[in-house]
Amino acid sequence: MILRILNLVMLAILARTTFAQLQQVTNFGPNPTNVGIYAYRPSGLPANPALIVAMHYCTGTAQAYYSGTRYATLANTYKFIVIYPNAPDSGGCWDVHTNATLTHDAGGDSLGIASAIRYAINTWGVDRNRVFATGTSSGAMMTNVLAGAYPDLIKAGAAFAGVPYGCFAGPGMWNSQCAQGQLTKTAQQWGDQVRSGYPGYTGSRPKMQIWHGTRDETLNYNNFDEAIKQWTNIFGYSTTATQVQQNSPLSGWTRSTYGPNFQAISAANVPHNIPVQENDVLNWFGITGGGPTTTTTTTGPTQPPTTTTPGGPLQTQWGQCGGIGWTGPTACQPPFTCQYTNDWYSQCR
Ligand SMILES: *[C@@H]1O[C@H](CO)[C@@H](O)[C@H](O)[C@H]1NC(C)=O
Repeated sequence: MILRILNLVMLAILARTTFAQLQQVTNFGPNPTNVGIYAYRPSGLPANPALIVAMHYCTGTAQAYYSGTRYATLANTYKFIVIYPNAPDSGGCWDVHTNATLTHDAGGDSLGIASAIRYAINTWGVDRNRVFATGTSSGAMMTNVLAGAYPDLIKAGAAFAGVPYGCFAGPGMWNSQCAQGQLTKTAQQWGDQVRSGYPGYTGSRPKMQIWHGTRDETLNYNNFDEAIKQWTNIFGYSTTATQVQQNSPLSGWTRSTYGPNFQAISAANVPHNIPVQENDVLNWFGITGGGPTTTTTTTGPTQPPTTTTPGGPLQTQWGQCGGIGWTGPTACQPPFTCQYTNDWYSQCR
């Protein structure tokens, strides 16, 4: 544990001193609530890089989420841009409750973030098909809001300990009924609410990955089940998972897949402060890196596929290092080794 903390501290120091800096962006378009926008653009970006919008928790800041997560470090390796928005509210929470923020191009914090995404596409050449949103707690709620109100901009989302789109709708910044897990709707009602975020929209919807600790003391675990109803309805999936993976990605965590566009990871005994799984998120977003990769999928169901990445980057502890469809790093930073979990997932540990 101490080693892990030391590791994180070292990474944070490295991220601040060695690499590109976090830079504030201004004049990026309509921003009615004055959302702060900070961008991390590593050197050596390709012409059309991917973009991850990484959103902080209540009382957090862009700077805190930048130094407290590994997205900037991973951006150095995989060459993508990270935008860290900064909430304008005095409590540091995102507006995920007003009609404006919940509605496409109607205003609120979501419009400021959407403007920054459009700016990144138009000014920095970001690949509009690889724009992703993620966040923790209030930032996870905003991930759901962006997925509902801006399905044309966001291609995938990953939400750590949030609530369904629209669950906080109402007069106040904080919705106790939702937070306490007392807001229950049918899948159809939750789905209709998402569809009301962008009336008339018929395009594709962002694939969603949601994470929640079973012992969440701030945003009740019931919100996990409600979000499963919501996004399975959006994709026309059954609320019964088609695949359940135990101990994925961490021991005691359970990954349920409902179809190609939605999966939900339940973290047993984890409180609200759920540890972000950056490598897993990057895999969900399809951001992979390294040199040429060759994958040989074996025919036997019990054998892991063998994957080799000649001279590629080394995966960090707890990161994914193999599995069907995985094209990222397959070797681990010492002293960790790549250990087979199942056909779809091997992990550095
Ligand atoms: C915004 O308010 C209008 C009028 O009350 C309502 O019809 C609409 O569904 C609301 N939009 C969202 C996204 O909640």
